[in-house]
Amino acid sequence: MENKYVKIKVWDLPIRIFHWTMVMLMALLWWSAEVGEMQWHQIFAYSLLILIVFRLIWGVFGSDTAKFNHFVHRPNVVVRYLKDVRAAGVQVVPGHNPLGGYMVVLLIAMVSLQLISGLFATDEIFTEGPLFSYVSSSTSAALTTVHKLNFNLILGLSVLHVVAIIVHAIKGDKLVGAMLSGYKKVPQDRLSSVAATQLQFKPAWLALVFVMGLAGVVVTFLIWPIVQVL
Ligand code: HEM
Ligand code: HEM
Repeated sequence: MENKYVKIKVWDLPIRIFHWTMVMLMALLWWSAEVGEMQWHQIFAYSLLILIVFRLIWGVFGSDTAKFNHFVHRPNVVVRYLKDVRAAGVQVVPGHNPLGGYMVVLLIAMVSLQLISGLFATDEIFTEGPLFSYVSSSTSAALTTVHKLNFNLILGLSVLHVVAIIVHAIKGDKLVGAMLSGYKKVPQDRLSSVAATQLQFKPAWLALVFVMGLAGVVVTFLIWPIVQVL
C-alpha cells in the first residue's frame, strides 16, 4: 500500500536563520582564534551574542516550536519517548523530540558559557574581554582556561549532534532538510500523536524587531569601537 505524506511546517524563518548563522559564526570564531585575528574574533563573538540573546527571547515569545516550554519536558516524557522509539522506530516529531530538547538546551548553554567566559578572557598580549578589568587576574586566568576547554566540549557535542541527525536521516526522519526549508514530510503512518496539535507561528517581522533592538545596543557599545580601530 502506498504511504501518504503530510507536509507540515515545523521551523519558522527566524529559527532557521539563527541556526545556520550560528554554525557559520562558530566556524569563524574558531578560525579567528586559530590565526590570532582577535579583533575579528570579538566582532564575530558579539554578532553571536545578538543571536543567542534573540534565541532566548524567541524561546519565550516566539513560535510554538521555538518555545522552551514546547520542547523541554520532564524526564518521564523522555523515557516514554525512548520506549516508543524502541517499540515503533523513530517518531517524526513536529519540532525537537523530547531527548533532542535537552541537547538543544545544552548546546545553547555551552555556547552562552563560551561567550560569557570570553568577556573575561585574556591572551596576555593584545586582547582582553570587555569585563576583564572587573575581576582579579586569577579569576580571569581561570575563565580563559574555561574558554579554551569549553570550546573543545562544544566541538564534541556538535559531533554528537550531527551523528544523531545522521542516525535520524537513516531512520527516515530528515531533520537537515527541515532546518533548511522549514517543512517536514511526514509519512501518515508515522505521524506521532503530537503532530495533530496545531502549531502557532509568530511573524518574522517580530523577530526582526527584537534583533534590530539587540543589534542597536551591541553594535553601538561593543562592535563599533572595534571597527573604528581595525
Ligand atoms: C561563542 C563565542 C566564542 C567562541 C566560539 C570562541 C572560541 C575561541 C577559541 C576556539 C579560542 C582558542 C582557544 C585555544 O587557544 O585553545 C578562543 C580564544 C580566545 N577568545 Fe574566544 N570565543 C568566543 C567568544 C569570545 C569573546 C566574547 C571574547 C572577548 C573578547 C573572546 C576572547 C578570546 C581570547 C582573549 C582568546 C585567547 C585566549 C588565549 O589564547 O590565551 N572570545 N576563543
Ligand atoms: C557548532 C555547531 C552547531 C551548533 C552549536 C548547533 C546547535 C543547534 C541548536 C542550538 C539547535 C536547536 C535549534 C533551535 O531550536 O534554536 C540545533 C538544531 C539542529 N541542528 Fe545544529 N548545531 C550545530 C551544527 C549543526 C550542523 C553542522 C548541522 C547539519 C548537519 C546541524 C543540524 C541541525 C538540525 C537538523 C537541527 C534540528 C534538529 C531537530 O529537528 O530537532 N547542526 N542545532
